[in-house]
Amino acid sequence: MSHIEVVILRELVAREPGFVSGAALAARLGISRVAIWQHMEKLRTQGFAFEAVRARGYRLTGRPAGLHAGLIEALLKSRRRDLPLIVLDRVDSTNDEAARLLAAGHKTPFVVLAGEQTHGRGRFGRVWHSGANGNLYASFAFRPSLPPQRMSTLTLWLGVSICELITNFCGLKAGLKWPNDLVFAGRKAGGMLTEARIDADQMRDLVFGLGLNVNSPARAWPGDLAARATSLAEQTGVPLDLNRFAAALIGRVMLAYSQFAEGDHLERFADAWNHHDVLRGHPVVLLQGDRRISGIAAGIDDAGSLLLRDARGRTQRFSAGEVTLEKVI
Ligand code: BTN
Repeated sequence: MSHIEVVILRELVAREPGFVSGAALAARLGISRVAIWQHMEKLRTQGFAFEAVRARGYRLTGRPAGLHAGLIEALLKSRRRDLPLIVLDRVDSTNDEAARLLAAGHKTPFVVLAGEQTHGRGRFGRVWHSGANGNLYASFAFRPSLPPQRMSTLTLWLGVSICELITNFCGLKAGLKWPNDLVFAGRKAGGMLTEARIDADQMRDLVFGLGLNVNSPARAWPGDLAARATSLAEQTGVPLDLNRFAAALIGRVMLAYSQFAEGDHLERFADAWNHHDVLRGHPVVLLQGDRRISGIAAGIDDAGSLLLRDARGRTQRFSAGEVTLEKVI
Protein backbone atom coordinates (compact mmCIF):
# COMPACT_ATOMS: atom_id res chain seq x y z
CA MET A 1 0.00 0.00 0.00
CA SER A 2 1.46 3.32 -1.07
CA HIS A 3 1.86 6.24 1.33
CA ILE A 4 -0.38 8.29 -0.99
CA GLU A 5 -3.24 5.80 -0.61
CA VAL A 6 -2.85 5.79 3.18
CA VAL A 7 -3.07 9.61 3.20
CA ILE A 8 -6.15 9.56 0.92
CA LEU A 9 -7.84 7.05 3.23
CA ARG A 10 -6.87 9.06 6.32
CA GLU A 11 -8.44 12.24 4.88
CA LEU A 12 -11.63 10.43 3.83
CA VAL A 13 -12.01 8.60 7.13
CA ALA A 14 -11.40 11.80 9.11
CA ARG A 15 -14.23 13.57 7.23
CA GLU A 16 -16.61 10.61 7.11
CA PRO A 17 -19.50 10.84 6.15
CA GLY A 18 -18.51 14.19 4.59
CA PHE A 19 -16.72 14.92 1.31
CA VAL A 20 -13.05 15.70 0.65
CA SER A 21 -12.34 17.69 -2.49
CA GLY A 22 -10.08 16.13 -5.11
CA ALA A 23 -8.28 19.47 -5.41
CA ALA A 24 -7.55 19.54 -1.66
CA LEU A 25 -6.22 15.98 -1.79
CA ALA A 26 -4.09 16.78 -4.83
CA ALA A 27 -2.67 19.91 -3.18
CA ARG A 28 -1.99 18.07 0.10
CA LEU A 29 -0.11 15.30 -1.69
CA GLY A 30 1.54 17.43 -4.38
CA ILE A 31 0.12 15.32 -7.23
CA SER A 32 -2.46 15.93 -9.97
CA ARG A 33 -6.20 15.32 -9.60
CA VAL A 34 -5.94 12.66 -12.27
CA ALA A 35 -3.32 10.88 -10.15
CA ILE A 36 -5.69 11.08 -7.17
CA TRP A 37 -8.44 9.51 -9.24
CA GLN A 38 -6.06 6.72 -10.34
CA HIS A 39 -5.18 5.91 -6.73
CA MET A 40 -8.86 5.84 -5.84
CA GLU A 41 -9.54 3.42 -8.67
CA LYS A 42 -6.85 1.19 -7.19
CA LEU A 43 -8.49 1.42 -3.77
CA ARG A 44 -11.83 0.42 -5.36
CA THR A 45 -10.25 -2.85 -6.51
CA GLN A 46 -9.38 -3.54 -2.84
CA GLY A 47 -12.98 -3.28 -1.64
CA PHE A 48 -13.40 0.46 -1.02
CA ALA A 49 -16.37 2.32 -2.49
CA PHE A 50 -16.50 6.08 -3.02
CA GLU A 51 -19.14 8.52 -4.08
CA ALA A 52 -17.79 11.27 -6.34
CA VAL A 53 -19.87 14.45 -6.64
CA ARG A 54 -18.91 17.42 -8.83
CA ALA A 55 -17.73 20.44 -6.88
CA ARG A 56 -17.79 18.51 -3.61
CA GLY A 57 -15.27 15.74 -4.14
CA TYR A 58 -15.17 12.21 -2.83
CA ARG A 59 -16.58 10.43 0.16
CA LEU A 60 -16.17 6.94 1.51
CA THR A 61 -19.27 4.77 1.11
CA GLY A 62 -17.85 1.28 1.54
CA ARG A 63 -14.76 -0.41 2.90
CA PRO A 64 -13.32 -3.92 2.92
CA ALA A 65 -14.74 -6.17 5.64
CA GLY A 66 -11.44 -7.99 6.18
CA LEU A 67 -8.17 -6.62 7.54
CA HIS A 68 -6.64 -3.92 5.33
CA ALA A 69 -3.13 -2.69 6.15
CA GLY A 70 -3.57 0.77 4.59
CA LEU A 71 -6.88 1.39 6.33
CA ILE A 72 -5.47 0.35 9.73
CA GLU A 73 -2.52 2.67 9.14
CA ALA A 74 -4.89 5.46 8.18
CA LEU A 75 -6.86 4.92 11.38
CA LEU A 76 -3.86 4.86 13.72
CA LYS A 77 -3.25 7.85 15.98
CA SER A 78 -0.38 10.01 14.70
CA ARG A 79 2.10 8.93 17.38
CA ARG A 80 1.78 5.28 16.28
CA ARG A 81 2.34 5.88 12.60
CA ASP A 82 5.97 4.80 12.53
CA LEU A 83 5.15 1.39 14.04
CA PRO A 84 5.82 -1.36 11.48
CA LEU A 85 2.63 -3.32 10.75
CA ILE A 86 2.70 -6.66 9.00
CA VAL A 87 -0.81 -7.53 7.85
CA LEU A 88 -1.28 -10.96 6.29
CA ASP A 89 -4.35 -12.66 4.86
CA ARG A 90 -3.16 -15.98 6.19
CA VAL A 91 -0.23 -17.29 8.24
CA ASP A 92 0.57 -20.39 10.31
CA SER A 93 0.62 -18.41 13.57
CA THR A 94 1.17 -14.69 14.11
CA ASN A 95 3.25 -15.54 17.22
CA ASP A 96 5.46 -17.82 15.08
CA GLU A 97 5.76 -15.19 12.35
CA ALA A 98 6.75 -12.59 14.96
CA ALA A 99 9.34 -15.00 16.41
CA ARG A 100 10.79 -15.59 12.94
CA LEU A 101 11.05 -11.86 12.29
CA LEU A 102 12.71 -11.33 15.68
CA ALA A 103 15.19 -14.11 14.94
CA ALA A 104 15.94 -12.43 11.60
CA GLY A 105 16.79 -9.22 13.47
CA HIS A 106 13.64 -7.19 12.65
CA LYS A 107 13.58 -3.89 14.58
CA THR A 108 11.11 -3.78 17.51
CA PRO A 109 8.41 -3.00 18.34
CA PHE A 110 6.32 -4.35 15.49
CA VAL A 111 2.90 -5.91 15.02
CA VAL A 112 1.78 -8.93 13.00
CA LEU A 113 -1.92 -9.23 12.17
CA ALA A 114 -3.62 -11.98 10.22
CA GLY A 115 -7.13 -12.68 9.00
CA GLU A 116 -6.59 -16.43 9.32
CA GLN A 117 -4.11 -18.80 11.02
CA THR A 118 -3.50 -22.35 9.86
CA HIS A 119 -1.69 -23.37 13.09
CA GLY A 120 -3.01 -20.95 15.71
CA ARG A 121 -1.72 -21.96 19.15
CA GLY A 122 -3.14 -21.52 22.61
CA ARG A 123 -1.72 -22.27 26.05
CA PHE A 124 -0.40 -25.77 26.73
CA GLY A 125 0.07 -26.27 22.97
CA ARG A 126 -3.68 -26.35 22.34
CA VAL A 127 -5.20 -25.45 18.99
CA TRP A 128 -6.59 -21.92 18.68
CA HIS A 129 -9.31 -22.12 16.03
CA SER A 130 -8.39 -19.34 13.65
CA GLY A 131 -10.71 -19.40 10.66
CA ALA A 132 -11.13 -16.52 8.22
CA ASN A 133 -14.36 -15.40 9.83
CA GLY A 134 -13.86 -11.76 10.76
CA ASN A 135 -11.78 -12.35 13.88
CA LEU A 136 -8.46 -10.90 14.90
CA TYR A 137 -5.19 -12.77 15.30
CA ALA A 138 -2.49 -10.39 16.48
CA SER A 139 1.05 -10.52 17.83
CA PHE A 140 3.11 -7.68 19.25
CA ALA A 141 6.90 -8.08 19.39
CA PHE A 142 9.25 -6.33 21.80
CA ARG A 143 12.82 -6.53 23.08
CA PRO A 144 12.40 -5.46 26.68
CA SER A 145 15.48 -4.75 28.75
CA LEU A 146 13.85 -6.13 31.86
CA PRO A 147 14.53 -9.05 34.19
CA PRO A 148 12.33 -12.12 33.40
CA GLN A 149 10.51 -11.96 36.75
CA ARG A 150 8.91 -8.69 35.58
CA MET A 151 6.96 -10.68 33.00
CA SER A 152 4.46 -12.14 35.46
CA THR A 153 2.24 -9.07 35.35
CA LEU A 154 2.42 -8.31 31.63
CA THR A 155 -0.32 -10.57 30.25
CA LEU A 156 -2.61 -9.62 33.13
CA TRP A 157 -2.08 -5.89 32.57
CA LEU A 158 -2.59 -6.21 28.83
CA GLY A 159 -5.75 -8.22 29.56
CA VAL A 160 -7.12 -5.43 31.74
CA SER A 161 -6.23 -2.84 29.09
CA ILE A 162 -7.94 -4.85 26.33
CA CYS A 163 -11.09 -5.19 28.49
CA GLU A 164 -11.14 -1.42 28.95
CA LEU A 165 -10.67 -0.92 25.22
CA ILE A 166 -13.55 -3.29 24.41
CA THR A 167 -15.87 -1.43 26.79
CA ASN A 168 -14.92 1.92 25.21
CA PHE A 169 -15.23 0.54 21.71
CA CYS A 170 -18.55 -1.27 21.84
CA GLY A 171 -19.93 -0.88 25.36
CA LEU A 172 -19.52 -4.54 26.38
CA LYS A 173 -18.45 -5.40 29.89
CA ALA A 174 -15.54 -7.77 29.45
CA GLY A 175 -14.55 -10.35 32.04
CA LEU A 176 -11.14 -11.88 32.73
CA LYS A 177 -10.46 -15.47 33.74
CA TRP A 178 -6.99 -15.92 35.21
CA PRO A 179 -4.55 -15.78 33.63
CA ASN A 180 -5.32 -15.23 29.97
CA ASP A 181 -8.98 -15.56 28.96
CA LEU A 182 -11.40 -12.83 27.91
CA VAL A 183 -14.96 -13.86 28.62
CA PHE A 184 -18.46 -12.52 28.07
CA ALA A 185 -21.53 -13.97 29.73
CA GLY A 186 -19.59 -17.10 30.74
CA ARG A 187 -18.22 -17.74 27.23
CA LYS A 188 -14.69 -17.25 25.96
CA ALA A 189 -14.15 -14.66 23.21
CA GLY A 190 -10.41 -14.15 23.48
CA GLY A 191 -7.16 -15.66 24.64
CA MET A 192 -3.68 -14.24 25.21
CA LEU A 193 -0.39 -16.06 24.77
CA THR A 194 2.83 -14.35 25.84
CA GLU A 195 6.05 -16.05 24.81
CA ALA A 196 9.51 -14.84 25.78
CA ARG A 197 13.05 -15.94 25.05
CA ILE A 198 15.35 -15.43 27.96
CA ASP A 199 19.13 -15.01 27.96
CA ALA A 200 20.83 -15.43 31.33
CA ASP A 201 18.95 -12.91 33.50
CA GLN A 202 17.55 -10.69 30.73
CA MET A 203 14.61 -11.13 28.41
CA ARG A 204 15.92 -11.36 24.87
CA ASP A 205 12.60 -10.81 23.21
CA LEU A 206 8.93 -11.18 23.86
CA VAL A 207 5.81 -11.80 21.77
CA PHE A 208 2.35 -11.00 23.07
CA GLY A 209 -0.34 -12.81 21.05
CA LEU A 210 -4.05 -12.11 21.14
CA GLY A 211 -6.78 -14.11 19.48
CA LEU A 212 -10.07 -12.26 19.70
CA ASN A 213 -13.37 -13.39 18.26
CA VAL A 214 -14.63 -10.13 16.85
CA ASN A 215 -17.20 -10.94 14.18
CA SER A 216 -17.53 -14.71 13.93
CA PRO A 217 -21.06 -16.11 14.07
CA ALA A 218 -21.83 -18.86 16.62
CA ARG A 219 -21.97 -21.44 13.82
CA ALA A 220 -18.28 -20.85 13.10
CA TRP A 221 -17.15 -23.01 16.03
CA PRO A 222 -16.50 -26.69 15.61
CA GLY A 223 -18.15 -29.29 17.90
CA ASP A 224 -18.65 -28.52 21.56
CA LEU A 225 -16.76 -25.22 21.26
CA ALA A 226 -20.00 -23.62 20.05
CA ALA A 227 -21.36 -23.85 23.60
CA ARG A 228 -18.25 -22.30 25.17
CA ALA A 229 -17.20 -19.65 22.65
CA THR A 230 -18.63 -16.30 21.68
CA SER A 231 -17.64 -13.20 19.72
CA LEU A 232 -17.99 -9.49 20.35
CA ALA A 233 -20.52 -9.24 17.50
CA GLU A 234 -22.57 -12.05 18.96
CA GLN A 235 -22.67 -10.19 22.27
CA THR A 236 -23.50 -6.74 20.83
CA GLY A 237 -25.80 -8.03 18.09
CA VAL A 238 -24.05 -5.98 15.39
CA PRO A 239 -20.85 -6.54 13.40
CA LEU A 240 -17.86 -4.47 14.44
CA ASP A 241 -15.57 -2.50 12.14
CA LEU A 242 -12.57 -4.87 12.23
CA ASN A 243 -10.01 -2.38 10.91
CA ARG A 244 -11.11 0.37 13.28
CA PHE A 245 -10.98 -2.11 16.14
CA ALA A 246 -7.50 -3.31 15.07
CA ALA A 247 -6.19 0.28 15.00
CA ALA A 248 -7.66 0.98 18.45
CA LEU A 249 -6.20 -2.27 19.77
CA ILE A 250 -2.73 -1.42 18.49
CA GLY A 251 -2.86 1.99 20.17
CA ARG A 252 -4.07 0.50 23.43
CA VAL A 253 -1.59 -2.39 23.58
CA MET A 254 1.34 -0.10 22.79
CA LEU A 255 0.28 2.30 25.53
CA ALA A 256 -0.22 -0.53 28.04
CA TYR A 257 3.16 -2.01 27.12
CA SER A 258 4.94 1.28 27.75
CA GLN A 259 3.17 1.58 31.13
CA PHE A 260 4.35 -1.96 31.89
CA ALA A 261 7.94 -1.25 30.80
CA GLU A 262 8.06 1.84 33.03
CA GLY A 263 6.41 -0.03 35.92
CA ASP A 264 3.59 2.55 35.90
CA HIS A 265 0.95 -0.19 35.96
CA LEU A 266 2.13 -1.77 39.22
CA GLU A 267 0.01 0.32 41.55
CA ARG A 268 -3.22 -0.17 39.62
CA PHE A 269 -3.13 -3.50 37.86
CA ALA A 270 -4.21 -5.92 40.63
CA ASP A 271 -7.23 -3.78 41.55
CA ALA A 272 -8.10 -3.33 37.88
CA TRP A 273 -7.84 -7.09 37.29
CA ASN A 274 -9.98 -7.85 40.33
CA HIS A 275 -12.63 -5.52 38.90
CA HIS A 276 -12.93 -7.69 35.76
CA ASP A 277 -12.24 -11.03 37.46
CA VAL A 278 -15.02 -13.57 36.75
CA LEU A 279 -13.62 -16.18 39.15
CA ARG A 280 -13.54 -14.09 42.32
CA GLY A 281 -15.72 -15.53 45.06
CA HIS A 282 -16.45 -18.74 43.14
CA PRO A 283 -15.35 -22.29 43.97
CA VAL A 284 -12.68 -23.33 41.46
CA VAL A 285 -10.23 -26.13 40.75
CA LEU A 286 -6.66 -25.27 39.78
CA LEU A 287 -4.83 -27.88 37.73
CA GLN A 288 -1.03 -27.98 37.95
CA GLY A 289 0.07 -31.04 36.02
CA ASP A 290 -1.48 -33.96 37.97
CA ARG A 291 -2.22 -31.80 41.00
CA ARG A 292 -5.78 -30.59 41.62
CA ILE A 293 -6.24 -27.80 44.12
CA SER A 294 -9.75 -26.76 45.14
CA GLY A 295 -10.60 -23.44 46.74
CA ILE A 296 -12.51 -20.20 46.51
CA ALA A 297 -10.93 -17.74 44.06
CA ALA A 298 -9.92 -14.59 45.92
CA GLY A 299 -8.45 -12.41 43.16
CA ILE A 300 -4.75 -11.90 42.42
CA ASP A 301 -1.84 -10.45 44.35
CA ASP A 302 0.57 -7.69 43.26
CA ALA A 303 2.77 -10.21 41.44
CA GLY A 304 -0.18 -11.51 39.40
CA SER A 305 -0.49 -14.83 41.29
CA LEU A 306 -3.92 -16.36 41.75
CA LEU A 307 -5.19 -16.37 45.34
CA LEU A 308 -7.19 -19.39 46.51
CA ARG A 309 -8.86 -19.69 49.90
CA ASP A 310 -9.02 -23.25 51.18
CA ALA A 311 -11.71 -24.84 53.36
CA ARG A 312 -9.81 -23.77 56.51
CA GLY A 313 -9.79 -20.15 55.41
CA ARG A 314 -6.07 -20.04 54.53
CA THR A 315 -5.08 -18.18 51.36
CA GLN A 316 -2.51 -19.69 49.02
CA ARG A 317 -0.87 -18.12 45.96
CA PHE A 318 -0.30 -19.82 42.62
CA SER A 319 1.77 -18.43 39.80
CA ALA A 320 0.86 -21.07 37.19
CA GLY A 321 -1.84 -23.54 36.28
CA GLU A 322 -5.22 -23.80 34.69
CA VAL A 323 -8.42 -22.90 36.48
CA THR A 324 -11.85 -24.34 35.95
CA LEU A 325 -14.98 -23.28 37.73
CA GLU A 326 -16.59 -25.91 39.93
CA LYS A 327 -19.92 -24.95 38.39
CA VAL A 328 -20.80 -22.88 35.37
CA ILE A 329 -21.45 -19.20 36.11
C1 BTN B 1 -5.27 -19.35 24.91
O1 BTN B 1 -6.40 -18.99 25.26
O2 BTN B 1 -4.84 -20.49 25.17
C2 BTN B 1 -4.39 -18.37 24.18
C3 BTN B 1 -4.78 -18.21 22.74
C4 BTN B 1 -3.88 -17.26 21.99
C5 BTN B 1 -4.19 -17.23 20.51
C6 BTN B 1 -3.43 -16.16 19.79
S1 BTN B 1 -4.04 -15.89 18.17
C7 BTN B 1 -2.69 -14.86 17.82
C8 BTN B 1 -1.47 -15.54 18.41
N1 BTN B 1 -0.97 -16.56 17.49
C9 BTN B 1 -1.08 -17.78 17.98
O3 BTN B 1 -0.74 -18.83 17.39
N2 BTN B 1 -1.64 -17.75 19.20
C10 BTN B 1 -1.93 -16.39 19.61
